[in-house]
Amino acid sequence: MFGRRSSDGNAPRRISHQPSQEPRAPQQQQQAPTAPPVPVAPPQHGQPHGAQGHPQAPAPAPGHQAPAQDPRQRAQAPAQQQAQPEAPRPEARESQRRHSEEYYDVKTTVFNALIDTIDLTQLAKLDNAAAREEIRDIVSEIIQVKNVVMSIAEQEELLEDICNDVLGYGPLEPLLARDDIADIMVNGADTTYIEVGGKVQKTSVRFSDNTQLMNICQRIVSQVGRRVDESSPICDARLPDGSRVNVIAPPLAIDGPALTIRKFKKDRLRLEQLVKFNSITPQAKTILEIIGRVRCNVLISGGTGSGKTTLLNCLTGSIDHDERVITCEDSAELQLQQPHVVRLETRPPNLEGEGEITMRDLVKNCLRMRPERIIVGEVRGPEAFDLLQAMNTGHDGSMGTLHSNSPREAISRLESMIMMGGFQLPVKTIREMIVGSIDVIIQASRLRDGSRKVTHITEVVGMEDEVVTLQNLIVYDITGEDASGRLVGQHRSTGISRPRFWDRAVYYKEENRLAEALAASEVLDAHGNPMGEGNG
Ligand SMILES: Nc1ncnc2c1ncn2[C@@H]1O[C@H](COP(=O)(O)OP(=O)(O)OP(=O)(O)O)[C@@H](O)[C@H]1O
Ligand SMILES: [Mg+2]
Repeated sequence: MFGRRSSDGNAPRRISHQPSQEPRAPQQQQQAPTAPPVPVAPPQHGQPHGAQGHPQAPAPAPGHQAPAQDPRQRAQAPAQQQAQPEAPRPEARESQRRHSEEYYDVKTTVFNALIDTIDLTQLAKLDNAAAREEIRDIVSEIIQVKNVVMSIAEQEELLEDICNDVLGYGPLEPLLARDDIADIMVNGADTTYIEVGGKVQKTSVRFSDNTQLMNICQRIVSQVGRRVDESSPICDARLPDGSRVNVIAPPLAIDGPALTIRKFKKDRLRLEQLVKFNSITPQAKTILEIIGRVRCNVLISGGTGSGKTTLLNCLTGSIDHDERVITCEDSAELQLQQPHVVRLETRPPNLEGEGEITMRDLVKNCLRMRPERIIVGEVRGPEAFDLLQAMNTGHDGSMGTLHSNSPREAISRLESMIMMGGFQLPVKTIREMIVGSIDVIIQASRLRDGSRKVTHITEVVGMEDEVVTLQNLIVYDITGEDASGRLVGQHRSTGISRPRFWDRAVYYKEENRLAEALAASEVLDAHGNPMGEGNG
């Protein structure tokens, strides 16, 4: 049988047909076929759980043809003929995963027997579907030979779990399969949280132990040529689907490896959807579109997971298709739709501490690439200086995101990034530079009820003495809370009818649309007057 380890190195064997000849009976003595069913013995001490100690099954090469055996023939094998229960939906499957210790013991035993039987190198040559088929077949036989007592549903779940362990990301698989999850946060083997609909919730997903979790982390990061272990315990990586991954391992993470995944959304959110989610109003959507189109330099500010990258992605939708855009990111997340885009990604140092390419290196290099717009995924260091310079010197329409809680704070964050970058400039000069470069700050927030809002569209208008002056165009006011705990509020214009970028809007013939959107956003007080400036 293809993919099985053979005793003579060549002749394949089926363990279910010749149970007495099974090599290295894993974990326990083989049960005679007539023996009464017994629960499987727990793993022996020193015996690895999960994939520990065994070579990791490398992901089968994409598109590789399954040799030797046609999976359709395999589907007719007796083991496959049993009626398979329909696979439960991922959410349902996940909720079933409140397994007993016994389940994990059985799983470990079957897993180890599988690893002893299967030839991982051969398995790696199969495509994913054929490899799954092969594993399912062998596991069914192991369960039969060992007389493990299980219902068909439990057996199906065990098969699925083991396939996920060998070929995929183990217990993470059902979570990765769900599209409604924004983040997966694993805090050691026993605790996994997810974020759904803006709310963080605990799941029943758990790993056999920290070693299995570490093996999965290792598998993830090795796919992008990186390594995570005690000597290099921090690592950023990406899943093949583009999801952003961070691993921090012991001894830095005290209670076991911490794995954080920002799930990549296949269908990226668009401004229309943000309107539907009440993150912005239709008028604010129009204003954002105009800001993107008339080439304002934009900073998107917000806390962790507030929707900065999503907003940046949305704004890039207004870029003309004939513009040359260069993106710089730590982990490529942006999905630009334009044809003329060059995507750049930073690189961490190698194990010898060499070869690092920083965001600053990328932004500086951008300037030699004749960009029309530069987009920086996240500004977090001295590259702030280079981005401001680029914005100031003919690369209008550049954009970036930055971690901060208000437009005012975004300005001071920029200032301190530049000062900490070792640029010997007086504060006033830095502020003048900011005023001369940034046109608009868009503030994203994740509110306490889990909803995400654009809370400010703010212009940088100038300097008064040494203070940067800001002018809010649109603000979001929270007015209360409904019975179900959801915050109630409204977006409104502050009554500014001629923003500072008005001339740009005129130049791009967008002034009428802009005036209309601003006027329609106005909320009047009891006396029919605009409600005035909100807090910056
Ligand atoms: N307005 C929104 N409504 C609902 N979900 C949103 C909204 N904006 C973003 N999201 C979702 O929230 C999650 C986080 O969004 P995003 O990656 O844009 O945040 P971020 O601020 O860039 O996070 P980080 O600080 O980690 O880089 C994503 O799953 C995204 O799809
Ligand atoms: Mg982001």
